[in-house]
Amino acid sequence: MDKKEILYWLQEKDKNKLTELWERADFVRKQFVGEEVHLRGLIEISNYCKKDCLYCGIQISNIKLTRYRMTEDEVINCVKFAKGNGYGTIVLQSGEDPYFTKEKIVDLIKKIKKIADVAITLSLGERDEESLRLWKSAGADRYLLRFETSNKELFTRIHSSKQAKSLEYRIEQIKILKKLGYEAGSGIMIGIPYQNYESLADDILLFKELDLDMIGIGPYIPHPNTPLGKEFLNSYKNDDERFVPSTELMTYKVLALTRIICPYTNIPATTALATVNTREGRILALKRGANVIMPNLTPPKYKKLYEIYPGKSSADEDPETIHNGIIKIIKEAGRVPGKGHGMSLNLIKNIINKNFT
Ligand code: 5AD
Repeated sequence: MDKKEILYWLQEKDKNKLTELWERADFVRKQFVGEEVHLRGLIEISNYCKKDCLYCGIQISNIKLTRYRMTEDEVINCVKFAKGNGYGTIVLQSGEDPYFTKEKIVDLIKKIKKIADVAITLSLGERDEESLRLWKSAGADRYLLRFETSNKELFTRIHSSKQAKSLEYRIEQIKILKKLGYEAGSGIMIGIPYQNYESLADDILLFKELDLDMIGIGPYIPHPNTPLGKEFLNSYKNDDERFVPSTELMTYKVLALTRIICPYTNIPATTALATVNTREGRILALKRGANVIMPNLTPPKYKKLYEIYPGKSSADEDPETIHNGIIKIIKEAGRVPGKGHGMSLNLIKNIINKNFT
């Protein structure tokens, strides 16, 4: 599919025509990654962050937010829950918290690997190459770092604080992850103020170019305590046809196109999508290209403080309730929970290509 066709689909409004896109994405999903829905248990280990991204509720400037760090025992308890419920992966996510030094993370990785046969995904922001290398050697398998938008001007606008690094730096980090042997995940937000269709089409093409193993796609949700959220809620005209709306429908379109263009990649039905449509956001995502869900295992008392955007889906539910709800969703979508680690088929395909062709 070329850029022209991507642009056509992004702007298509006809419901019947769009059914064609959903069916195509579902067909490709079935052919390339099958019926399994892989569960990745998400543990939000700290909401401290030294960065100041203009859209994110845990940015350092949000002084209204109560900050927390989970103890090692608390993290291990979450891992035990994941193990007990047959999850193949746990994800350690946090803001860029200097307290979690590279040594502390190495320690945590080793302890987790000792007690559970799970893949470990890290999502700890922009980190130096030495740390990334150390964590890989300690047993980390994957790393998630969204580039948020491939448009340089837009990226710079939403990362304009003095601590922020450039889009080039972000892309370079993703390439380093791949070089170090991580399964590399990235992704974007849909409907960032002033995001245009052309840049959204370029985002999808960049997914392909980076040859990503996981791609997270979620709608931008304004947080009232952030500069971008305030602008969005007070003065931004979100019905301007030139710009991408931060809607559920637009998110499905990007998700479906991404599945068609990157057929082997892992695509989660994101929490942001479940936040804008609690009842059926995840089911529809599963039917339009997604093959991964990340149940949130963070203890409720912390989870509600990991407020990157407001109204986060199932913020006050305990892991057990969340888990049962997700199993129900998978069944309702006519699919089965994944077995094993759920390694990236994209990576496996690349290994096979390298060795046998
Ligand atoms: N709305 C939607 N997604 C957000 N993220 C951060 N802030 C918001 C927001 N206000 C996403 C970013 C980040 C990921 C962890 O959460 O894409 O990479």
